[in-house]
Amino acid sequence: MFWNNVETKPYGGYPIAWDARLLELLGPQTWEGGTYTGKTIFESAPEGHVAVGFLPEDLDWVHPNIGEDETSGLAERGMHLTIPHAIWNFYLPRICNHCSYPACLASCPRKAIYKRPEDGIVLIDQQRCRGYRECVRNCPYKKTLYNTVTRVSEKCIGCFPLVEQGRQTQCIINCIGKIRMAGWIHQPNKMDPESPVDFMVHVRKVALPLYPQFGLMMNVYYIPPVHVPLPYLQQMFGPHTERALNAYRQVKDDEELMGVFLLMGATDRWIEKFRVKSGWAFGYDDKGSEIVRVPLKEPNYIRPFHDAARSVYRHNIT
Ligand code: SF4
Ligand code: F3S
Repeated sequence: MFWNNVETKPYGGYPIAWDARLLELLGPQTWEGGTYTGKTIFESAPEGHVAVGFLPEDLDWVHPNIGEDETSGLAERGMHLTIPHAIWNFYLPRICNHCSYPACLASCPRKAIYKRPEDGIVLIDQQRCRGYRECVRNCPYKKTLYNTVTRVSEKCIGCFPLVEQGRQTQCIINCIGKIRMAGWIHQPNKMDPESPVDFMVHVRKVALPLYPQFGLMMNVYYIPPVHVPLPYLQQMFGPHTERALNAYRQVKDDEELMGVFLLMGATDRWIEKFRVKSGWAFGYDDKGSEIVRVPLKEPNYIRPFHDAARSVYRHNIT
């Protein structure tokens, strides 16, 4: 629950207002075209610090579900659906982003945090950590958490024991909504269009990092929600949000993107490559063997209203 929380935007945040506070500390965030011209959290660091940040107080950590299911405004009497939506909310699942430039790692005086070269997972060595909490202060996403019982900090471990076996992380396996997927991401100039993650991020550009202006090059990407006002989303996901939303809106005519979406949560194995053909999406492992296939369109079976064999009538016939 602590490593992997879900907050309701716009009012949810754990610890309280983590993002609003950080955005305020960071100061003006300017973009020119698609390029960030403001300062990252490292460039804004006060003298003697690694990054600009703040250490939440104990009370900030006591309400994991603050703002849960609240909407952006009040639903007045007689209100009806309008497009764009007059009031809105959306869920933001948050784990450690296993950043390419992790502020937690950079700020630990004990060098207790390391990034694994083989898969990029960022871990805290529980033996070395002495609970200095500089990582908690400087992770802008507040994803290192000080454990008051063990007196050391801990964080999402990227389910490395599963990843080592070629399996997806537990949050993906458990996700009822099937909205998560793990995979390898490459630099844009070395991308593999058959990797489902590269396809979403680099080819269709439908998935974006959260608060890219922080400058950590995070490795968790989100598909922004289509019903939320654009300026709010742009502050969160950057200037390419509209392009991502447009790609999402095209999905019904985009078999490949639809195929990747349907492969999410379809297997607990790590999908290295995917392909879409003849109405099916296929997932393959690192040896090129098929591990999963899903139809792009679920078949519709219509059963007779009266089942003579069982002498019963069905009310739900599909
Ligand atoms: Fe470290 Fe925070 Fe980045 Fe995770 S999200 S790697 S805890 S800086
Ligand atoms: Fe280092 Fe954070 Fe522990 S700063 S010592 S990993 S609490």
